[in-house]
Amino acid sequence: MKNKQVLLASRPSGWVSLDNFTVTEGEVGEPGDGEVLVRNIFMSVDPYMRGRMNDVKSYVPPFQLGEVLQAGVVGEVVASNFEGIAEGDHVTGMLGWENYSICDGSLLRKLPQSSAPLSWHLGILGMPGMTAYVGLMKIAEAKAEDQVFVSAASGAVGSVVGQLAKILGCRVSGSAGSDEKVALLKEEFGYDAGFSYKTSDSLLRSVKEVCPDGVDVLFENVGGELMEAVLWSMRDFGRIALCGMIADYNAEAPTPGPRGMMVMVGRRITMRGFIVTDHPEACAEYVAKAIPWVAEGKLKYRETIAEGVENAPQAFMDLLQGGKTGKQIVQLS
Ligand SMILES: NC(=O)c1ccc[n+]([C@@H]2O[C@H](COP(=O)([O-])OP(=O)(O)OC[C@H]3O[C@@H](n4cnc5c(N)ncnc54)[C@H](OP(=O)(O)O)[C@@H]3O)[C@@H](O)[C@H]2O)c1
Repeated sequence: MKNKQVLLASRPSGWVSLDNFTVTEGEVGEPGDGEVLVRNIFMSVDPYMRGRMNDVKSYVPPFQLGEVLQAGVVGEVVASNFEGIAEGDHVTGMLGWENYSICDGSLLRKLPQSSAPLSWHLGILGMPGMTAYVGLMKIAEAKAEDQVFVSAASGAVGSVVGQLAKILGCRVSGSAGSDEKVALLKEEFGYDAGFSYKTSDSLLRSVKEVCPDGVDVLFENVGGELMEAVLWSMRDFGRIALCGMIADYNAEAPTPGPRGMMVMVGRRITMRGFIVTDHPEACAEYVAKAIPWVAEGKLKYRETIAEGVENAPQAFMDLLQGGKTGKQIVQLS
């Protein structure tokens, strides 16, 4: 069996390019004691990977030059020397941008019983869905009748935030990168209103138009000027869940923070950053709720699937540039 792999060739400065990756082919190894050999079926590309391409200290270590990149993967067990995991099981874990991975069995999780397609465990039933739930429910403490605003609203996390907010009884609006994505927000994900930040001639005015009564909860995925515009619509005692700052990820130097922070004082606003992996109990709580919601059609989901591990670098670049709809996945086998 051959194993095609994607390695980090160089660290990007600014936008990622194909030159930052090398594709190689090697043999598949044998799992040792306590290890499992997995045939990788789907892998996820995610915005946080851009940060891991830089050689900086963060909440996860950077990717190493010349090594296989890591990703969330779902796959099928080919051979196992780990008690509790058997050949044929479907598992998920942090594995590689490669066709086969060997890892310590304790780092894998067997997939829960669900009628959903396997790839959905990397999206609506996986890390992005969990992130939406943790940020909305545990960090922003959203409640019925809140006015919620979500940036990058049609993406993997944002599309779930909007639907969870509607289930809770909130009014929800958001921004996305095209008129087609804004239509998707309203027609598929149940958003009450939305606008394209790319065609808006005034972000401040667009936010006011879609949130005429102001914003109690801001679920922030983007940062920069878009976040600054929403700050001016925040209501007294509003809550901001800082999930991500994708507008900054490819910047060559940190961009200045939002202006007008005095609003935070006068309106007594709470702002808190979070990392989903710090909240395992809330993640399990979410998956238990989401499996029936997905089966009943209460939670809708869109994904874009690229084919072949050699196309993972391009899929990752598409994700960063908004050239995909919903969750970006790569099919490996
Ligand atoms: N804190 C955590 O634990 C955690 C976990 C997962 C994800 N996150 C964060 O959550 C955010 C969304 O992640 P995701 O997985 O759901 O990705 P995603 O929304 O599916 O994809 C990222 C999207 O962001 C939009 N975008 C890119 N640059 C932008 C800019 N300059 N201004 C406005 N929008 C821009 C693009 O869509 P458009 O077409 O709309 O422009 C792009 O496709 C990211 O910031 C990510 O880092 C955080």
